[in-house]
Amino acid sequence: MRFSVIAAVCGVLTGVVASPTPNANRHVLHERRERLPLNWVRTAELHGSTLLPLRIALTQRNLDKADEFLMDVSHPESPNFGNHWTAKQVAETFAPTDETVTSVLGWLAETGISPDRVKQSQGRNWLHAEVTLEEAENLLRTKYHRYTHTRTGQAHVACEEYSIPEQIQQHVDFITPTVHFDAKTAPQKKRHPMRENEIDIAKRQISTVNLLVESRKERALGSPGSWSQPKADVDTPPVEPYHGLQDCDVSIVPDCLRALYLLPADILSHPDNSYGIVEYTPQAYLPSDLDMFFSNFSPPLVGQRPILESIDGGFLQTTNESFGYNSESNLDIEFAMALVYPQQVTVYQTGDAVEGASFNNFLDALDASYCTFEGGDDPTEDGIYPDSQGGYQGPEDCGTIKAANVISTSYGFNEVDLTPFYMQRQCHEYLKLGLQGTTFVFSSGDYGVAGQGGLCIDPTTGTCSMFNPSFPATCPYVTAVGATQVQANGSVTQPEKAAESFIYSGGGFSNVFSTPRYQASAVKTYFAHHKPPYGPDRYNTTEKSRGFPDVSANGVNYVVSVDGTFNHVYGTSASAPTFGSVLTLINAARMDIGKGPVGFINPALYANPGMMNDIVSGGNQGCGTPGFQAVKGWDPVTGLGTPNFPKMLAYFLALP
Ligand SMILES: *[C@@H]1O[C@H](CO)[C@@H](O)[C@H](O)[C@H]1NC(C)=O
Ligand SMILES: *[C@@H]1O[C@H](CO)[C@@H](O)[C@H](O)[C@H]1NC(C)=O
Ligand SMILES: *[C@@H]1O[C@H](CO)[C@@H](O)[C@H](O)[C@H]1NC(C)=O
Repeated sequence: MRFSVIAAVCGVLTGVVASPTPNANRHVLHERRERLPLNWVRTAELHGSTLLPLRIALTQRNLDKADEFLMDVSHPESPNFGNHWTAKQVAETFAPTDETVTSVLGWLAETGISPDRVKQSQGRNWLHAEVTLEEAENLLRTKYHRYTHTRTGQAHVACEEYSIPEQIQQHVDFITPTVHFDAKTAPQKKRHPMRENEIDIAKRQISTVNLLVESRKERALGSPGSWSQPKADVDTPPVEPYHGLQDCDVSIVPDCLRALYLLPADILSHPDNSYGIVEYTPQAYLPSDLDMFFSNFSPPLVGQRPILESIDGGFLQTTNESFGYNSESNLDIEFAMALVYPQQVTVYQTGDAVEGASFNNFLDALDASYCTFEGGDDPTEDGIYPDSQGGYQGPEDCGTIKAANVISTSYGFNEVDLTPFYMQRQCHEYLKLGLQGTTFVFSSGDYGVAGQGGLCIDPTTGTCSMFNPSFPATCPYVTAVGATQVQANGSVTQPEKAAESFIYSGGGFSNVFSTPRYQASAVKTYFAHHKPPYGPDRYNTTEKSRGFPDVSANGVNYVVSVDGTFNHVYGTSASAPTFGSVLTLINAARMDIGKGPVGFINPALYANPGMMNDIVSGGNQGCGTPGFQAVKGWDPVTGLGTPNFPKMLAYFLALP
């Protein structure tokens, strides 16, 4: 029994190793990295006996039909709207075939990696083996090197391209470690944590592009210098007392959002409803800040806290308190709790304070069929627990957490730092959770057409040139939220414009994902009437790629208490939880009449754009250009616009 070890591990493998065919050795290029990510340099060759944790992502079954499955339960005209799937149905529909598993095992065996060295993940879609560098180079016809991050000194093992046998290609999604550089760098270690200093950095990051590159922080999710964090304006602190509606052009408090989007005052809650906000440690909320906010803007919430779900050792660290450590969580939670009260809010606090975590750690916790049980996550990309650096010593969470009906995340990466296979795989997971009725809301980024950190893509010089879309906002199975603001001296009853104070709404066109069907006519209309004045040196002009954001919500001048003072805070980081709150209220109302959560909403939104307030002014400058402009209809700045709650509610209540 050649498969005894594997069979004992997961009990699913049957069959025999596929016999090699005559052209078994014809290798074809599988993945190549066109350029090194910024600040990584190749530093050394490695010894052939170096051990690598080789992981092979197997292609799943029925992925070609996945989009159709999702539309079947999400398109408003489908008779199956709202008939969401169970986790079991999803896992069974997409698991790799036995043929896939045996073919890949056969290939490994021919190259000298016998099946007893290979383990399969619980979810069946990963094979894992500890191999020497020499074996990996031989298997993948490649050469590995050590790379070093010039600012953090972090080391990383990678190759620039790799090949696999032609007839294996259909069975392999991607392999790690190879060309992937979405390395999780350690959280920023500040010798003298200084709040003012950090705010200063946040301000510099958005005021000049050159400084952005200079003051580049690590992009570890949750680290104090992370680019996706909200920005602060220290020069104009909010003025007390907060009179409310007449000041919404200079200070956004919950009442401003209620007035802008016509949210009801007497809100329904439902015991089965849930709203999750994802935070990455060491980013954490401070209880005293919540109470300071609630006592001003939502008195019944004083003393109340969100439900805390810890993932991979996530906890509310209070060792370090500063704008960089507390602003994202405080912003998200203060506003979400106030807007959906009395509905409860759950915080998914993800990763420990030492190595932190990635989106994959979070998805693993939600879905056992996604996680990487025996093999563990990819050490170059995701948090590995127990933490060998001394952090969280428990096991990795794998299918241990129930997904909330709406999940809002205000963190992101740039597409260019990840590989297409990696992103597609993760994006498909959002699809699968959408099939089960979860809505994923992501911020679209704060740097206009530039990427996180204000960086643009240039293969040769590194200076500003190509626009830099952010991920997961470009994944067609999430709802990407851009930012708007109240016009100067304007009132809450006047139309908003695209955000142009301190931040610019992340938007544009993906270089990886094609236009989803639900968006095709919106994108076509946009190009027909408002063709942007840029060529392919600036953005993906094919008119066939996924445009983002989908929608928008106010993201300027939020009054947030951070470390005992009120600040003005800016970002799509604010827009995402606000939009998520709107959907949570709609879900509560649907559940109250015995219906289920809305799930993946994009097809419904694009089919009925009239339930949004179309935003038609402002732009999203970046990369030395004015960026795109907000226009009538969908645009790559503010999407379909901001929510009109009564219209959305009436529409979604009428759906099955
Ligand atoms: C807090 O800051 C100190 C000093 O920079 C650092 O050593 C420590 O790791 C930080 N703690 C957390 C939880 O980030
Ligand atoms: C807004 O009002 C202030 C004070 O009345 C005025 O100084 C400023 O020019 C106005 N701004 C705009 C854009 O109208
Ligand atoms: C443009 O987007 C499509 C996917 O929608 C992709 O196939 C193509 O490679 C992209 N072009 C560039 C230049 O990135």
